[in-house]
Amino acid sequence: MKTRITDLFQIEQPIIQGGMHFVGLAELAAAVSNAGGLGIITGLTQRTPDDLAREIARCRSMTDKPFGVNLTFLPAVNPPDYPGYIRAIIDGGVKIVETAGNNPQRWLPDLKAAGIKVIHKCTSVRHSLKAESIGCDAISVDGFECGGHPGEDDVPNFILLPRAAEALTVPFVASGGMADGRSLAAALALGAEGMNMGTRFMATVEAPIHQNVKEALVAASELDTRLIMRPLRNTERVLINAGVERLIEKEKTLGSSIKFEDIIQEVAGVYPSVMQRGEMDAGAWSCGMVAGLIHDIPTCKELIDRTVAEAEAIVRKRLERMF
Ligand SMILES: Cc1cc2nc3c(=O)[nH]c(=O)nc-3n(C[C@H](O)[C@H](O)[C@H](O)COP(=O)(O)O)c2cc1C
Repeated sequence: MKTRITDLFQIEQPIIQGGMHFVGLAELAAAVSNAGGLGIITGLTQRTPDDLAREIARCRSMTDKPFGVNLTFLPAVNPPDYPGYIRAIIDGGVKIVETAGNNPQRWLPDLKAAGIKVIHKCTSVRHSLKAESIGCDAISVDGFECGGHPGEDDVPNFILLPRAAEALTVPFVASGGMADGRSLAAALALGAEGMNMGTRFMATVEAPIHQNVKEALVAASELDTRLIMRPLRNTERVLINAGVERLIEKEKTLGSSIKFEDIIQEVAGVYPSVMQRGEMDAGAWSCGMVAGLIHDIPTCKELIDRTVAEAEAIVRKRLERMF
């Protein structure tokens, strides 16, 4: 396919694999990029900038296609060594960065000077406009359905995407709830130039995570996610499990007086337990409502090929006939 996003990132299909903590390792990023999409390594999953430099080198040994690195800017008492991570990205020759969380303005001059294209993930039109105004090259517009942090506005993609199309000049991709060719055709119809998938890419052969997680996604329905940390204004959409039920009970009991320390057992250090050891009740991990549309565990190439073929069939055969 050819869209402003494929042109911008020099990729064959307008399909991006969003950064995912403890999922976005070199194996997945390379598999997505080799299949013609844009694979993304999750920067902060690497404990140090040196580890990220090694992960970038590992990914480069697996693909000669473009891939990106996600940098998530979170409020933290002891912030990660962001300058070090940015140095590793620049020195590693990576040309695409997905930013998320806080405003990336402070880091843009260094990234731009190195010729890096920046796609910023936003959950609202106002944040998207801000990102455009500070020089981001593209936006990943993340609707309320999404796995991870949907923000606090709760606007689903059927509204958010056409609103973004009305407001933005830079190209954007649809993120949140995207699973297949129907999603891609719909995203394009609503004004996006492609799509970003998180949860769907976890249930692939190459995703370097425990088989229990992949099978849990196939088994889950669209009713099985929950929103947590609302009272902390750090809302996260996660898959229900015993740890999450415990957390929700605490939120009910403590109400607005709840503090991060009260739920630390259910949220801290959960990702290695779930993704590496397959301990499905360990606590909260991000998952989108799109779990209800995940019925199998294909390779990344099968997933991307069939997504594009299905979108084309919808546009050329099903929709074309209706007029
Ligand atoms: C397990 C998991 C971990 C994630 N970790 C991150 C992260 O570290 N940084 C980030 O910017 N987004 C993260 N996300 C969000 C994804 O990049 C993407 O925006 C989101 O999954 C899109 O919604 P979908 O799951 O409905 O496709 C994560 C999502 C999942 C499912």
